Amino acid sequence: MTITLSGVSKVFGDFTAVHPLDLTIPEGSFFALLGASGCGKTTTLRMIAGLEEPTGGTVLLGEEDITALPPHKRPVNTVFQNYALFPHLDVAENVAFGLRRRGITSVRKQVEEMLELVELGPLAGRKPRQLSGGQQQRVALARALINRPRVLLLDEPLGALDLKLRRQMQLELKRIQTEVGITFVHVTHDQEEAMTMADTVAVMNAGRVEQLGAPDELYERPRSTFVANFLGTSNLIEAEITEAGGEELVLKATGTDSVLRLPAERCAAPDPQTGGKLLVGVRPEKISLTHAEDDDGEGAGTQANGTGARRGAVNGANGEGNGGADNRLTGRIRDAGYLGVSMQYVVDSPVCPEFSVYEQNVERDARLTPGADVVLRWRPAHTFALDATQDADAGTVEEAL
Ligand SMILES: Nc1ncnc2c1ncn2[C@@H]1O[C@H](COP(=O)(O)OP(=O)(O)O)[C@@H](O)[C@H]1O
Ligand SMILES: [Mg+2]
Repeated sequence: MTITLSGVSKVFGDFTAVHPLDLTIPEGSFFALLGASGCGKTTTLRMIAGLEEPTGGTVLLGEEDITALPPHKRPVNTVFQNYALFPHLDVAENVAFGLRRRGITSVRKQVEEMLELVELGPLAGRKPRQLSGGQQQRVALARALINRPRVLLLDEPLGALDLKLRRQMQLELKRIQTEVGITFVHVTHDQEEAMTMADTVAVMNAGRVEQLGAPDELYERPRSTFVANFLGTSNLIEAEITEAGGEELVLKATGTDSVLRLPAERCAAPDPQTGGKLLVGVRPEKISLTHAEDDDGEGAGTQANGTGARRGAVNGANGEGNGGADNRLTGRIRDAGYLGVSMQYVVDSPVCPEFSVYEQNVERDARLTPGADVVLRWRPAHTFALDATQDADAGTVEEAL
């Protein structure tokens, strides 16, 4: 069922945990609330569950206003991080709990179905303490799903699991959601988790939703520095607009002659004007890194008349058809990290210290080591631009995971 929050807020004393929030969670979707600890995710979820009374606003389920409805009267179930299984009951009885409480005695078939769904059939007779964390999590899930809620709320349900198991359970959860087709609202501080599972992600920051969209949209077109930095890594370059008003924005990186271009529609700042400032952004994996000796000096700044000055340095395989030249910057490698699937370089450039560049680990140029002079290139179409009045470092989390 579609959940609609209209102006829903929560104030604790003089602290606003959730600012008036408008949110539509479509029926049958896997929806993630993503944000750092303390940003108001759990409070929002609890207001949907009825465990917390909103200070203002209304919660609708379908057409029905459920703002005043007590939790047990809502067709909503919650799975928490601490699964709170009954230690003295075996797996099957834990799962059967919701049915028994409603006075249903013939539970076997439904319990079997649920255990099959979460792939725990063979463990039906075990007690919770005889299960791994991931298995306990599945029991908790089955115990919630057997009540056939219209909406399942999940509050960091995988938080207690180690990384590998978490990854596995992410795929499991997604499979289960697709199979049962009910609305899942999943709260997490883990951006990768949100991106892997959710159809739609709402990125929360200090009690507000900063941006809402499909994972790839949030990643490719962040609309604030917070989202650009919180979801993955972004290189942000301060630049002045030299040409605005057309289909393309042309800028000059502050304090340099480096010209940067991007499609005007990839700019999130309102009404960019010649002379104004923007933060020009690019993701690390979009950049190709070449040794300065191999560079021909052609770039967005030397583009003559769209005759295709680009040398196909970026994504050579499918680099056709965008006419213009690449954005091009020079720099020097500060650091090169070997990550197996990729190399991660930190490049100091006059326009931006600590530029992040990820290169697939295919044909590594042995000269690309710290101290090497390099050229960075990427396509204008992979560039985005943000309002420069924001803190460029917002959302950069030094998380101790
Ligand atoms: N019952 C409460 N009383 C006072 N402050 C609260 C209460 N519950 C949550 N908060 C505060 O509201 C903010 C948001 O909390 P929460 O929704 O739990 O965040 P998240 O789940 O995103 O980590 C936090 O600063 C938290 O300390
Ligand atoms: Mg929380």
